[in-house]
Amino acid sequence: EKTLSIPQPKTYGVLGNIPLIDKDSPTLSFCRIAEELGPIYRFEAFGRHVYMVSGPDLVADLSDESRFDKSNGHLLKVRDFAKDGLFTSLTEEPNWKKAHNILMPSFSLQAMRGYHSMMVDIASQLVQKWARLNPDESIDIPDDMTRLTLDTIGLCGFNFRFNSYYRETPNPFIVSMVRALDEAMHYGSRLPILNMLLIKTKHQYERDIQSMFSLVDKIIAERKANGDSGETDLLARMLNTKDPETGEQLDDENIRYQIITFLIAGHETTSGLLSFTLYFLLKHPEVLAKAYAEVDEVLSDAVPTYEQVLKLKYIRMILNESLRLWPTAPQYSVFSKEDTVLGGKYPIQKVDRVSIILPQLHRDREAWGEDAEQFKPERFEDPAKVPSHAYKPFGNGQRACIGMQFALHEATLVLGMILQQFELIDHTNYQLKVKQTLTLKPDDFTIRVQLRDKKL
Ligand code: HEM
Repeated sequence: EKTLSIPQPKTYGVLGNIPLIDKDSPTLSFCRIAEELGPIYRFEAFGRHVYMVSGPDLVADLSDESRFDKSNGHLLKVRDFAKDGLFTSLTEEPNWKKAHNILMPSFSLQAMRGYHSMMVDIASQLVQKWARLNPDESIDIPDDMTRLTLDTIGLCGFNFRFNSYYRETPNPFIVSMVRALDEAMHYGSRLPILNMLLIKTKHQYERDIQSMFSLVDKIIAERKANGDSGETDLLARMLNTKDPETGEQLDDENIRYQIITFLIAGHETTSGLLSFTLYFLLKHPEVLAKAYAEVDEVLSDAVPTYEQVLKLKYIRMILNESLRLWPTAPQYSVFSKEDTVLGGKYPIQKVDRVSIILPQLHRDREAWGEDAEQFKPERFEDPAKVPSHAYKPFGNGQRACIGMQFALHEATLVLGMILQQFELIDHTNYQLKVKQTLTLKPDDFTIRVQLRDKKL
C-alpha cells in the first residue's frame, strides 16, 4: 500500500513551528495552517510533534476507539489542578472508569428533570437583571453568560451559590481559575528556560491553585459535617455512591478534582455557546424571527417547564449550528495505540498524538456544502443528514462530553427565557473577534435589550 508523506509548515530551529501560532488564539492559527496544508499536517514544538487533523474521513478513522484513545498530552498543565478528574485523566487511570460509572446517571437526559428548577432559578436572575436596566445601559454578554453558567453548575452540582449576579467582579474562585487556565495554556508555548525565569507567574499560579483547592475542600467538608440531608446533587452522588464495577467509592481528594473539573468544563464552554448564539441571532434577523415564533408558540407567560424546553426544537437547531461554526471546546486529542495508517494514506506511529481541529472540520465544504461558512440552523432539521464525522463539538465515544445534555438543556432554557422577554439591540454593530482561553468566546461583545411588546 502506498503511503503519503505528511506536510509540515515552516520551522524555526528549536522553536519548531511555535512562531506561527498566535498565543492568544492558538486554535485559529491551527485552522489557518490547515487552510494551506490540508486535512493533516505535522506540528513541531521543542522537539515534540503532534499531527493536526481536520478532514472528516481522517476523523472517522480517529473515532475508532479500538485504535485510538484520548490523549491528555496537551492538558498536562491543567492536571496541576484537575489531576485525575474525568476530563484530564487517561482512560487507563482507575479513577476515570470509577467516576464515569458513578456519574453517568446524573447526566442522563432523564436526570435533567431534577436540575430544571435550579436552572430556572439562575436564569430568572439574569432575566430580572436585564429587565431592570435603563435603556442606555449595555450588557457584557460573555460576562453575564459566565455568571449564569457558573451559578448553574454551582447550584446543580454542589448546592453552592456563587451569587454572581450580586457582584460586579467575578467570584475570587473564578479569578483564580481563569488565571490558572490562562497560564496552563501559555506555559507550553514558552521555552522551558523562560518558564523557569518567570518566578512571579509561577508563584501566582501556585497561589491560584491553592485558592481553588481551599474553596472546594471547604464545600466537601461542610457537606460531610452536615451529614446526608437528602441532597441529590453531583456532590451527594460522589460522596454516597459506589462504583457498581469495583464496589469502591471516590476518595475525598478525587472528589475535589471532579468538582474543579465540573466548574471548569461545565461553565466556560456553555457560556461561550450562549454568547456566540446571541451573536448569530443578532446578525440573522430571519433566524431570530423564527426563534421568536417558536418561543411564543411553545412557552406560556410563566417560566418554562421541563417539557416545554424539550419542545424548543428550532432553538436546539440554532445551538447546534452555533456549535458547528464556533465549537467552544475547539480541539481534542487522541493517541494511536499501535503503528497504523490513517485514512489508508498517512503513516502514524504508536503513541503519536493527533489533535482534531474542530472549527476547520466543522467547515469542511465536502461534508457541509459550499455554504459551509454560513449560519443555517436548518442543516440540523433532519438528524440523519448531519455528517457525524464532520461534527464533533462534544468529542467522541466513551470520552465524549458527559455534560452534553446538561449544557443543551441549560442553554435552550436560557435562550427561551431571553427571547420570551427581550428584543436584542446590536448597539455597536458588533464585529466578531474571537478570544481563546482554553475555550473560545466572542471578545468585547455587548448588546442592549428592551422588553418586548408582545401585542405587536
Ligand atoms: C468532555 C465539550 C459542557 C463536563 C468534553 C469534550 C468536549 C466537550 C469536546 C471532550 C474533550 C476531550 O476529548 O479531551 C463541551 C461543550 C460544552 C460542554 C462544547 C458546552 C457547550 C459541559 C458541561 C459539563 C461538562 C456543562 C459538566 C457539567 C465534561 C467532562 C468531560 C467533558 C467531565 C470529560 C468526560 C470524560 O472524559 O469522561 N466536553 N462540554 N461539559 N465535558 Fe464537556
